[in-house]
Amino acid sequence: MDGAGPDNPGRHGNGTARHDTTTAQHNNGTARRSPGRRSGPVRPGENRVAGVRHLLSGNADVAASTHSAGSADVTDGAGVTTGAGTSSGAVGAVDLDACYRLPPLAAGQVHVRSNFVSSVDGATEVDGRSGALGGSADRRVFRLLRWLADVVLVGAGTVVAEDYGPVIVPPDRRERRVAAGQDAVPPVAVVSAALRLDPSARLFAAPVRPLVLTCEAAPPARRKALAEVADVLVCGERRVDTAVALRALGERGLGRVLCEGGPSLHADLADAGLLDELCVTIAPLLAGPDHLRMVRGRRWQAPLTMTLSQVLEEDGNLFLRYLRR
Ligand SMILES: NC(=O)c1ccc[n+]([C@@H]2O[C@H](COP(=O)([O-])OP(=O)(O)OC[C@H]3O[C@@H](n4cnc5c(N)ncnc54)[C@H](OP(=O)(O)O)[C@@H]3O)[C@@H](O)[C@H]2O)c1
Repeated sequence: MDGAGPDNPGRHGNGTARHDTTTAQHNNGTARRSPGRRSGPVRPGENRVAGVRHLLSGNADVAASTHSAGSADVTDGAGVTTGAGTSSGAVGAVDLDACYRLPPLAAGQVHVRSNFVSSVDGATEVDGRSGALGGSADRRVFRLLRWLADVVLVGAGTVVAEDYGPVIVPPDRRERRVAAGQDAVPPVAVVSAALRLDPSARLFAAPVRPLVLTCEAAPPARRKALAEVADVLVCGERRVDTAVALRALGERGLGRVLCEGGPSLHADLADAGLLDELCVTIAPLLAGPDHLRMVRGRRWQAPLTMTLSQVLEEDGNLFLRYLRR
């Protein structure tokens, strides 16, 4: 899954790239088209990748009850493949759009998908950032999930740690989004109670106005300053009530929610029973002790069980897709 775009060091596609947004959008779109890695001409609606292979192509019950996890035109539909395909390991060109298709939503309905990259030993950051974990294959999936979403939901800790910028959507993807009734570019929605966010940060200079989801207890002066550069929504008293926040997004027509973490926000959503889907890249490395995992905070009453619906592999990275039971 190479050729995924400009190789910013950060997984979040922002890294140190503080360039003009318009230029970045075009560069990104152009750079993604890497003909040598494609299995054939790309038609609208396709995102076929020859290097990636299906190891598990969806469980029939899950596919029927939610959406088409796995796709008849990319596997034989037999479920698990052994990976004994070609020398590259490719069992067939995989249509990533089909692999990560979201279910149709009724008005106001919300689907929450989270996306993380993790080392084999469970670390989701190295030196406080995720960039060291995600290679080019991971970044490709990371970007695709953004392009499929109505909104990117993220905690303030990650926004600061990863120096978040706006979502970058190449022109062909913008067209497809608009044709499908979505905004050309999904906004970023930041969750924060303390609002220690710099209104002059590049995220808030984006052409697409970000959202800030906060609570009554947030410092009024910071709230006022951020309201100049973002749509500030109050969703709770002392903390952001994630259910209220998701409802507010759904009412705005932003039902396909991609949560990019971090671990605190992700834990809140999962513990509240609001997580519909978890996409995880397992990178082939051990980070060692004392790193953040993909959940953080107080202990849960009980573990959360999910159903594994899909496993893709490329270059030793596993791409796992879990759905809510
Ligand atoms: N590997 C990956 O895929 C991945 C993905 C994302 C992040 N990360 C890593 O995770 C680390 C950041 O961890 P983190 O736990 O700080 O991330 P986080 O969940 O993004 O941020 C935590 C902050 O978000 C706000 N927040 C979250 N839930 C809230 C709620 N219900 N109500 C009000 N505010 C809420 C709070 O901000 P305030 O303090 O402003 O109130 C809280 O301090 C970074 O090192 C980053 O690189 C890794």
